[in-house]
Amino acid sequence: MPGIALVGIQWGDEGKGKVTDLLAGHTDTVVRYQGGNNAGHTIVVGGERYALHLVPTGVLYEHCTPVIGPGVVVDPQVLIEEIDTLEARGIDVSRLLLSGNAHLIMPYHLELDRVTERWLGKNRLGTTKRGIGPAYADKATRIGLRVQDLLSPKIFAAKLEVALKEKNLLLTRVYGRLPLEMDEIQDQYRTFGARLAPLIADTALHVQRALDAGKTVLFEGAQAAMLDLDHGTYPFVTSSNPIAGGACAGAGVGPRDIERIIGVAKAYCTRVGSGPFPSEADPADAEVLVEEGAEYGTTTGRRRRCGWFDAVAARYASRLNTLTELVVTKLDVLSSFSSIKVCVAYEYEGRRYEELPPNQTIFNKCRPVFEELPGWSEDLTSVRDPDDLPKQARSYLELIEGLVGAPVSQVSVGPGRDQMVEMPV
Ligand code: GDP
Ligand code: IMO
Ligand code: MG
Repeated sequence: MPGIALVGIQWGDEGKGKVTDLLAGHTDTVVRYQGGNNAGHTIVVGGERYALHLVPTGVLYEHCTPVIGPGVVVDPQVLIEEIDTLEARGIDVSRLLLSGNAHLIMPYHLELDRVTERWLGKNRLGTTKRGIGPAYADKATRIGLRVQDLLSPKIFAAKLEVALKEKNLLLTRVYGRLPLEMDEIQDQYRTFGARLAPLIADTALHVQRALDAGKTVLFEGAQAAMLDLDHGTYPFVTSSNPIAGGACAGAGVGPRDIERIIGVAKAYCTRVGSGPFPSEADPADAEVLVEEGAEYGTTTGRRRRCGWFDAVAARYASRLNTLTELVVTKLDVLSSFSSIKVCVAYEYEGRRYEELPPNQTIFNKCRPVFEELPGWSEDLTSVRDPDDLPKQARSYLELIEGLVGAPVSQVSVGPGRDQMVEMPV
């Protein structure tokens, strides 16, 4: 008591990093429970910008223990680089705990992520090429190597031999690539192991004890509901379960441990990579959203596809997550529009869909049904009091709240920590 889950309810990059950071100010432990360094969470503190990929957001607070849980896939090289970068900026990372059960991203996962994307050609997913999918695949087929294997060179070597035999056949015979060298990988990972050993812990026990002691634990989701492996726009998804339910398996707690479930949504929508995106805006509006919202990926620098708020997808995500509240970010970006669209339903072959069509062919081909609202031109970045929001902005938020079915508790009006409006609930 109390556990709080914070999840993205669109296609990622909703501003989860900023919202987690604000909550971490009152939190004992922040846990990442899924994904890996495909995530890019940006936090802006006093003009300083931090882009976190694997290290949980709570690291910026001295009272907070950041935890990488068993459900995460860890690229040890990236983790060490991230720790070094943070330390060079004066952040103490010594409290970080790393689950021994988390799976390792190996060099062949990176290589396979690249070659399979090339292989897929026009059907490619547009992954972050961080080896996420191949690492989760090995976890599922039970030939993955785990963080704890770094502590036992013999076990590490035995497991690597089994995995590498298959991967090298795949790389050389199917994809025409060069084989990877066992010795090189072993040497490299031995160094990583020595460096990471002090962080390795039974993180599930730490989290359970913190909850038992009445401390606040925040489960920091990466990616988002529409990228969920089971519930997102498969196959254009990531390979883990970002939804709040994923926090239980990925961190090692029970469903009763999570009391508050906060969904984060942008005031519009973005998506990086391929896949259906019914509310995608026309090129002129998308251009304004990209420029005003600085919509370039934190991890890969790719330009994000932009669209209008998709209330059908958000309602779907709200139900999947049993949201107790909604945080709307980037409302300031919409000041550039004289009128604002909201996708309230989909249409396919003359039929209107108020809920997400369960058939992927329909979802891929459906057209958005937009409702148009008057915009506002005021700059919102200095607003802190909900009464100072223009009435058109308040109407917009009320419409979203009603369509999504969760109360809007906070509205973000800029990247900075202080640029937040607390809404009366
Ligand atoms: P995450 O992956 O969900 O943590 O989101 P990202 O950090 O990838 O992307 C969100 C981007 O929007 C970051 O660059 C944030 O600094 C920025 N941001 C967050 N909230 C706001 C906001 O309310 N207004 C504006 N203009 N930018 C914001
Ligand atoms: P955060 O936590 C946005 C997308 C990729 C691709 C698909 C699969 O910052 O919100 P993967 O590398 O995971 O196998 O790629 O998922 N994707 C994200 N999009 N934000 C993210 O994370 C993402 N993580 C993965 O672009 O379409
Ligand atoms: Mg991001």
